[in-house]
Amino acid sequence: MAFLTAMSQMFCINFTYLFAECFCYMAFYMLFCTCFLGIIVQNQSSIMELIHTIEELKRELSKARIKGEKIGLVPTMGALHEGHASLVKRCVKENDVTVVSVFLNPTQFNDKVDLEKYPRMLEADCRLMEEVGANIVFAPSVEEMYPEPDTRKFSYPPIDSVMEGAFRPGHFNGVCQIVSKLFMAVEPDRAYFGEKDFQQIAVIRAMVKDLKFKVQIIACPIVREESCLAMSSRNMLLYPEERKIAANIFKVLSKSKNFATSHTLKETQCYVIDTLNAIVGLEVQYFSIVDGNTLQELERWTDSDYIVGCITVYCGSHSIRLIDHIQYKGKE
Ligand code: PAF
Repeated sequence: MAFLTAMSQMFCINFTYLFAECFCYMAFYMLFCTCFLGIIVQNQSSIMELIHTIEELKRELSKARIKGEKIGLVPTMGALHEGHASLVKRCVKENDVTVVSVFLNPTQFNDKVDLEKYPRMLEADCRLMEEVGANIVFAPSVEEMYPEPDTRKFSYPPIDSVMEGAFRPGHFNGVCQIVSKLFMAVEPDRAYFGEKDFQQIAVIRAMVKDLKFKVQIIACPIVREESCLAMSSRNMLLYPEERKIAANIFKVLSKSKNFATSHTLKETQCYVIDTLNAIVGLEVQYFSIVDGNTLQELERWTDSDYIVGCITVYCGSHSIRLIDHIQYKGKE
């Protein structure tokens, strides 16, 4: 009897131990699952999606819209660099969902050789966009964006007919065609554009006003390389020594600001053109000093409160077209 009592007591004690041990294991297992799955879910929410069709894009974005989330769009033609990354970073900060479109739009290239030369690198683009926190890369085919030829005509003179508009006939019509299609597909609350393309922003603002798109256009400052050359996908097409030469564009523009304080507008214009043309490897296509709002050419410094000098220069052995600008007066 004493033996049985001792045995049952022993079993009781062992059973208690066993129970306690199981409980500890279960608690540990639950804690592990919660943390581990939590990390997976958290990571999954930041996984970037690559979408190729408007239908899928609209389906994804409608989920965000139902939740009342703000959608930001960064339109690009790919070959992305730190300049684009800065637009995306700002978009991520100011919106719940960031869509980056990567589409080399054929309708804005009046020169087919220029289109062929344009760098294409979707995989690297996606890696960079994921790093800077984009949620969706929208990379449609030409057939997806233009199932039929786009015959729409956009015209906002003089904003789209001077400078780039004059030297690249049809360019801004193509820009308006694709940007309006992107706005219709994404219906963004905000869209981000780099100020390097100063005239493009003015044209897009005119189109938004004309077509009454409910999107806020955000112009973001130029990002420059260490040499002060404005970042551009086209810089990749320059040899290293040509990049050094190209850095003179902004150096001369910067010097011209000081020059302008003691010279007339026309003298300043000649100073920039002549100084750059004297550098082997550079050839100025145009340098216009314009009103920053209307983009109309000016005669005198007193003609406007907001004055910008816009330049396009051919650079290097392959005549790569580089654009930049400098502000002489007005908004800083
Ligand atoms: O600035 C660009 O990269 C293009 O003109 C844009 C706005 C993406 C339209 O194709």
